[in-house]
Amino acid sequence: MMRAKLYLETFGCQMNVLDSELVLGQFCACGYEPVGERDQADVILYNTCSVREHAEQKVWSRLGELRERKTADPGLVIGVIGCLAERDGANLFRRYPYVDILCGPSELDKLPGMVRNATVTSGRQSALMGRSGSRRSSTLDAAEDKLEMLDLSRSVSPSDERTQAYVRITRGCNKFCTYCVVPYTRGAEVHRPPQNVIDEVRKLADAGVTEVTLLGQTINHYAYDHGDGRVTTFAGLLYQIHEAVPHLARLRFVTSFPRDFTNDALAAMRDCPRICRYLHAPAQHGSDRVLRLMNRGYAAGQYVEFIDRAREYMPDVCIASDFIVGFPTETDEEYAQTADLLRRCRFKNSFIFKYSPRPGTVAMDRFADDVPESVKRSRNNDLLGVQQEICGEENRKMIGKKVEVLVEGQSKLVSRKGGGGGATVELGWEKPAAATQGQLVGRTRGDQVVVFDGPASLKGKLIDVAIVDAKSLTLFGHREE
Ligand code: 5AD
Ligand code: SF4
Repeated sequence: MMRAKLYLETFGCQMNVLDSELVLGQFCACGYEPVGERDQADVILYNTCSVREHAEQKVWSRLGELRERKTADPGLVIGVIGCLAERDGANLFRRYPYVDILCGPSELDKLPGMVRNATVTSGRQSALMGRSGSRRSSTLDAAEDKLEMLDLSRSVSPSDERTQAYVRITRGCNKFCTYCVVPYTRGAEVHRPPQNVIDEVRKLADAGVTEVTLLGQTINHYAYDHGDGRVTTFAGLLYQIHEAVPHLARLRFVTSFPRDFTNDALAAMRDCPRICRYLHAPAQHGSDRVLRLMNRGYAAGQYVEFIDRAREYMPDVCIASDFIVGFPTETDEEYAQTADLLRRCRFKNSFIFKYSPRPGTVAMDRFADDVPESVKRSRNNDLLGVQQEICGEENRKMIGKKVEVLVEGQSKLVSRKGGGGGATVELGWEKPAAATQGQLVGRTRGDQVVVFDGPASLKGKLIDVAIVDAKSLTLFGHREE
């Protein structure tokens, strides 16, 4: 019998990238053949993001394109999975009646069964957590949790020749920042058992993976209650992984919530040489009034204190942030406080977003989206300019230094994934004056992009590069022989 062909496209954050990998693994285990061309597929799945309207629009347009094809081929199965499915629910079926499957991020273990049913019955299938739905207990009973089985069943083999991989330590989010859909789409925070995380990291390292990025929406909030009085903290987990998997060259994690970052976790980063000294800790804003409206739970001064504390522990730590401009009622002066905070903290990189009202969030219910688009755009551009200037200055300081680079390959464009609820920012790099053939790209431990000449066979290797030139987005270097 011919194997059914599956096409899966992923939008949004690292969590979605990981979910897609696990989903694909499940389908392959059930005999499906993954294909890279949508036109060849019998089953088309979109793993979606809902964090800003723009992310949703991409999915709407993909679905629009499928209308004719589904009319011509009613046997085609179309599924929308991930955060948009969860957020929009049955509305999506009304708007696109030819969609067969809706599956939220907390229900992905059910997906192969749903696709099978849709193929047989051609009826609509939906698995959503729902608003009041299962905000699960915060500590997971792995044996009973089907979703946990999805992560546990991950298949990795050395023949995949993978360099990097994601490992989830926490699902969901309990913060309820007023602008954000994630607590509604991914549900309550659930911590995975430390042993499951360690085993997964080890499995990946055994298969040749060089760099593992641990994932959680507010990752430093991790605390696993063993039920016998013992609790594994985030710092404890970092030490345990570092010790249990000595053959993993790089361990990193995203996304950190500024308020919960303890000194133990900073000490773990300082003490464990294979943990990258990289923090992605979104500040979101520089005004205390706006931070309150956002329900962030800290004032700008406390954020700065955290950054200073991190640098006391690790003077060389690379820190990246996220900012939202144009939050409802934001004044020019308050925007200026955001720019001041960025200047004060001198981030290595910032992901900057224009506020996008999200249905179902407190901010959209309570506050009019009253900052005009033109003002949002100009604040966005201004802040990008501030960050770019800092990037340029910081990168120039790297000239003459030697850095360790994990070679990612020969790609023309570097795609950077912001943390939290799903930011994807495409960054092209500026070409140096004399760009030549055979350019490779890789990243430092601090997540800085480095471009240098070398053979493609270096992909996946850790090599030393001497930095000779720098632009605001990119470092340029020569391979140390
Ligand atoms: N509008 C704009 N940006 C948002 N983010 C989350 N929700 C919104 C929204 N409604 C940003 C935050 C978060 C990142 C992943 O996306 O900065 O850290
Ligand atoms: Fe949670 Fe981050 Fe969204 Fe806040 S911005 S609700 S911490 S996912």
